[in-house]
Amino acid sequence: MIMNPVHRLEGEITVPGDKSISHRSVMLGALAKGTTVVTHFLEGADCLSSIQCFRSLGVKIHNDPDKGLVRIEGRGLHGLQAPEQILDAGNSGTTTRLISGILSAQPFTSMITGDASIQKRPMGRIITPLSMMGAEIESIRGNDCAPLKITGQNLHGIHYTSPVASAQVKSAILLAGLYAQGTTRITEPSLSRNHSELMLSAFGAKVSSIPDGSKSYTAAIHPADELYAIDISVPGDISSAAYFIAAGLIVPNSCITIKNVGINPTRDGILRVCKAMGANITMENIHNEGMEPVADITVRSQSLHGTVIGGELIPTLIDEIPVIAVLACFASGTTIIKDAAELKVKESNRIDTVVEALSAMGARITATEDGMIIEGGAPLHGAKIQSYDDHRIAMAFSVAAMNSESPVEIVGAECIRISYPDFFGDLNALRY
Ligand code: S3P
Repeated sequence: MIMNPVHRLEGEITVPGDKSISHRSVMLGALAKGTTVVTHFLEGADCLSSIQCFRSLGVKIHNDPDKGLVRIEGRGLHGLQAPEQILDAGNSGTTTRLISGILSAQPFTSMITGDASIQKRPMGRIITPLSMMGAEIESIRGNDCAPLKITGQNLHGIHYTSPVASAQVKSAILLAGLYAQGTTRITEPSLSRNHSELMLSAFGAKVSSIPDGSKSYTAAIHPADELYAIDISVPGDISSAAYFIAAGLIVPNSCITIKNVGINPTRDGILRVCKAMGANITMENIHNEGMEPVADITVRSQSLHGTVIGGELIPTLIDEIPVIAVLACFASGTTIIKDAAELKVKESNRIDTVVEALSAMGARITATEDGMIIEGGAPLHGAKIQSYDDHRIAMAFSVAAMNSESPVEIVGAECIRISYPDFFGDLNALRY
């Protein structure tokens, strides 16, 4: 894919449904009593992997991609069937980790794996707490990665203190906790996205999340007798909106409105960072869609300055860091991104991939142990960029290309289908 510089972006778009919420709607819908109807579902490859896994577990799921409509005929908490094949999570860490929490409590043995990237991502972070709850999970190659063989057991509640602020770890434990004897608690060093807590509660589970101590949070769940189907309208994904927010800021004379974007405070770090960099982003039509806050976001091109990003802000913008690094190249002064070692275990090692690609475009950027330092203000020029099959890298560098001095080649851009199948269609609708 060759990306040419863009002169102006103007207009209104609606980005696809939130990836995290779409995954969770399939999972909780499958475990509920009754039919869950989901609108504005993300038809990206990752969420389709979740649908496929639950179909293999005996759940009837009707999917109308043209309408973004998914209907899940729930089988109740104890109605899943042993799969006949190995479950395939594709590229999706969320599918792999969250489903493992559910499979840990089923009365059958199952296996789950995924693509080459999934088979390298750390699963020890869920194997440890789920095993403490009584689950039997084996990493087939003995390397704490997928393929995983999971033999369901009677689970018991634990209080787990997680070394990382990870919603995938938290959610795997909470989903297992639906089936455990006694209360299950998970304390995380700072609050990660709380879509599972909100949605579990909307389906009727008894779940709570409380701040305890300075920055740490504890989520607790009680075993459930039943979950009850609901209708879910998925907000636009702020992680997808982030590419257009960044593009609107850096492409001269631009003005973009992104309709109906999820602005849950556990996900809105990109907005806070843009503000800290001097951007004036406006929000209108703020309201709740089910359990999630949403707004229409308008962004205009503006001059930016560097900032420091770290601490509890990191989990609220973890997937946006590649595009924030791009933004920092167009800001005056220094931007420091720290406390973000989690970037190393995403779809690619995003410290290495971002630093390699931005350096190739002429940016002044240095990798650190837990992030990167960017000296903004140097113009970016064209280069051949490796996406390493990481959708967020491919989209972040499509944004970088929009204000580059010369065309950028992005190798493997088709991986964008993971989270934003019509990214280029939406971009073209705004291009002048
Ligand atoms: C996700 C949580 C985050 C995020 C991922 C989606 C989720 O991962 O990076 O894209 O849906 O729970 P971690 O929990 O590993 O931080």
